[in-house]
Amino acid sequence: MVINHSSLLLLFFFSTLFIIPINSQLLSSIIHCSDTSGDRNTYIIHVETANATKFLAREARERYYRSFLQPLSSSGEQLMLYSYMHAINGFAARLTEAEVKTMMKMKGFVHAQKDQEYNLHTTHSPDFLGLQQDHCFWKESNYGKGVIIGVLDTGVMPNHQSFTGEDMPLPPAKWKGICDFDIPVCNNKLVGARGFLRGCRNSPVDDNGHGMHTASIAAGNFVANASVLGQAKGNASGIAPKAHLAIYKVCYKHCHGSDILAAIDQAISDGVDVLSISIGGRPDPFYDDHMAIGALAAVEKGLFVSSSAGNMGPKESSVENNAPWMLTVGASTMDRSIRVTIKLGNGEEINGESAYQPDNFPFTMLPLIFPGEKGVVRAKTCSDGSLDGINVRGKIVLCETGGGVNNSIEKGMVVKNAGGIAMILMNQGKQMLTVKARAHVLPAAQISYGDALRIKKYMKASPVATAGILFKGTVYGTPVSPSIASFSGRGPSVINNGVMKPDIVGPGLNILAAWPSPADCGAMPTFNMLSGTSMAAPHLAGVAALLKASHPDWSPAMIKSAIMTTADELRRDGKPISDETGNSTNYFATGAGHVNPSKANDPGLVYDIDIDDYISYLCGLGYSDRQVSAVARRYIECLSRKAITAEELNYPTFTVSVASESQKTVTRTVKNVGENNAVYTVQVDAPEGVKVDVYPEKIEFSEINQTVVYDVYFTAGDTSDRIGSVSEGQLRWVSGKHVVKSAITVSFV
Ligand SMILES: *[C@@H]1O[C@H](CO)[C@@H](O)[C@H](O)[C@H]1NC(C)=O
Ligand SMILES: *[C@@H]1O[C@H](CO)[C@@H](O)[C@H](O)[C@H]1NC(C)=O
Ligand SMILES: *[C@@H]1O[C@H](CO)[C@@H](O)[C@H](O)[C@H]1NC(C)=O
Ligand SMILES: *[C@@H]1O[C@H](CO)[C@@H](O)[C@H](O)[C@H]1NC(C)=O
Ligand SMILES: *[C@@H]1O[C@H](CO)[C@@H](O)[C@H](O)[C@H]1NC(C)=O
Ligand SMILES: *[C@@H]1O[C@H](CO)[C@@H](O)[C@H](O)[C@H]1NC(C)=O
Repeated sequence: MVINHSSLLLLFFFSTLFIIPINSQLLSSIIHCSDTSGDRNTYIIHVETANATKFLAREARERYYRSFLQPLSSSGEQLMLYSYMHAINGFAARLTEAEVKTMMKMKGFVHAQKDQEYNLHTTHSPDFLGLQQDHCFWKESNYGKGVIIGVLDTGVMPNHQSFTGEDMPLPPAKWKGICDFDIPVCNNKLVGARGFLRGCRNSPVDDNGHGMHTASIAAGNFVANASVLGQAKGNASGIAPKAHLAIYKVCYKHCHGSDILAAIDQAISDGVDVLSISIGGRPDPFYDDHMAIGALAAVEKGLFVSSSAGNMGPKESSVENNAPWMLTVGASTMDRSIRVTIKLGNGEEINGESAYQPDNFPFTMLPLIFPGEKGVVRAKTCSDGSLDGINVRGKIVLCETGGGVNNSIEKGMVVKNAGGIAMILMNQGKQMLTVKARAHVLPAAQISYGDALRIKKYMKASPVATAGILFKGTVYGTPVSPSIASFSGRGPSVINNGVMKPDIVGPGLNILAAWPSPADCGAMPTFNMLSGTSMAAPHLAGVAALLKASHPDWSPAMIKSAIMTTADELRRDGKPISDETGNSTNYFATGAGHVNPSKANDPGLVYDIDIDDYISYLCGLGYSDRQVSAVARRYIECLSRKAITAEELNYPTFTVSVASESQKTVTRTVKNVGENNAVYTVQVDAPEGVKVDVYPEKIEFSEINQTVVYDVYFTAGDTSDRIGSVSEGQLRWVSGKHVVKSAITVSFV
């Protein structure tokens, strides 16, 4: 398989779409649901696998689970929401605290945890747009053929052109899922769809848009001659256009752990290969993180899990989805911008972005006005009514972001209705670093906070400030890309005890993909540009599907290793990947780097991890036997196995802590997936403050699948002046053909 890297990264984001008018039958959202109000809460109950019960049938399992409920209440039947088969050994039920306490004393009880809320990882901006786009080089291919991607999200609108079954092969015979719409709308692309809400079957229709957006990023079908509002023209597709999509709607108004577990349970039994989950929550220990537990079950069954790092960056330790068995994806910017250049009267130039690019807007110098200049808060943000009595007619109006005005469309309407000719949307503070190519209802540009200060300074200095606006359309090759989006969740993880997170970054800023048609747009083709790690995770799910198609025998950990050890660390201009302001950054922001799909297809060596390693790692976290048993879905006695630390997990990165005047050794096992008779030698960029020795320094393989063990010795001298600091380096195994890179982070304790 050959993947053209540049076209992957340039093109996948142009899922330009048509939509057929919505069939109202699809919108009957609730199929059946029971009441979940009252004084009971939903709990997820983990129980021991009863040694005497043969768990061959779902019914036997359910009977066993019910045996925990029967003593509690005569209406035990009504309490159970879900009886899980694969995702955990246990069930979800509506219980009072007293009932949970009673249950804790029962034989076979392992662990109980209240249902948790999880959130979608997008910066939600309901901006509809039409985008000018005529550079499209994507050719139809067989990438991802035969692979099924399960998307846990807000559902799907099945009548979108991204999800047609045209030119799609039949799903593989192992597919067992169902299509739970009221009418038969599934096809060879959209092979299944189900909704899970509080123990009930529910409609998988996407009334939010997030779910179809992420699904089309991962595996949207090829859409030829796509055009939107007469502007966008080009071919569109997701990352793995030949992969099948199985939709599991788990987020209605909220997303709950019990529903997420039910979806993972279903995806495992349906025959899904890759899960894309752009959802996260509070970083809880793994035994209380329903999604992490379900993900481990999925990984054990051979499913790859791509999840989002969260949007709470750039704050340190803001990363979510920290389990080492998941791929945790941060968001990067693309090398594409949809540019608007503003020329100020003093000759200064400022670059901004706008998705709306009028092709007949003349470049003329026009007066600039900032209605909020006098400190009127509502006028600063161009809130409704705030421009009354201000003469903005024929002028370029400056508005700040925020201020309770919901989106750029609303601000634009205020400016337009007041007679303004164009709008400059100024980022309001250092916290809002992201400049987005948004939809606008008039000629407009969003600019950064720093550039906003430049304009304000110019306006102060010149009594008749003017500016001209130049719409430059889509500009490729922005040299400072990829860089890390400011919102992208940063490590280190506070709960995984030192496994480097995020693992990787992928495109997550200004991603254009499928979007439902709003009721008042009729049959208008719609798509939308969203930003968030929500958009980055499905890119990696798509890449994993491509790798799964070309290497069906690779385990999830092998696929993950291949993605991480081949990642790009440099921007297009040859400098290290930076943050969004161009400042240098670190592994806690970039993970292993920016995904390079074609290199990931041929990594040379991989670091594999099996379920036993993860269980030993869970023991090493200091969890109790019951807590480990809940996560592992089997009875575990940590004393009877070798617990390992996070440092010793066979991860493709190294995170070690060293004390002054000490030495630490960690061991890794690499597997040859390149050629027979391969020879690798080691190269190390030692982190400042430690000496790094590798033994052996040269490793040889005579055949594929052979494994070799090596040791890495970290030796620290007197590092007492470094305590609390972190330094970074890299270890590389290099053959004539491959470079297998591992990031090293050393923290001094
Ligand atoms: C299953 O067997 C293990 C070890 O033999 C024992 O400790 C455990 O209590 C048994 N579990 C049940 C539910 O009978
Ligand atoms: C779109 O795809 C078609 C069919 O593969 C191809 O002929 C055409 O050149 C593509 N258009 C662009 C703009 O890439
Ligand atoms: C795409 O547009 C071209 C030129 O307008 C036309 O020749 C071609 O048939 C169209 N293809 C499809 C699939 O509509
Ligand atoms: C903007 O958001 C607020 C609060 O969510 C809501 O009450 C209001 O209706 C929204 N305005 C518009 C024009 O949608
Ligand atoms: C970028 O680096 C400069 C110089 O170190 C620093 O002053 C500035 O605050 C940094 N910017 C951000 C956004 O961190
Ligand atoms: C390597 O191992 C995998 C899985 O065990 C197997 O499917 C594959 O055929 C092996 N490859 C070679 C070249 O032996």
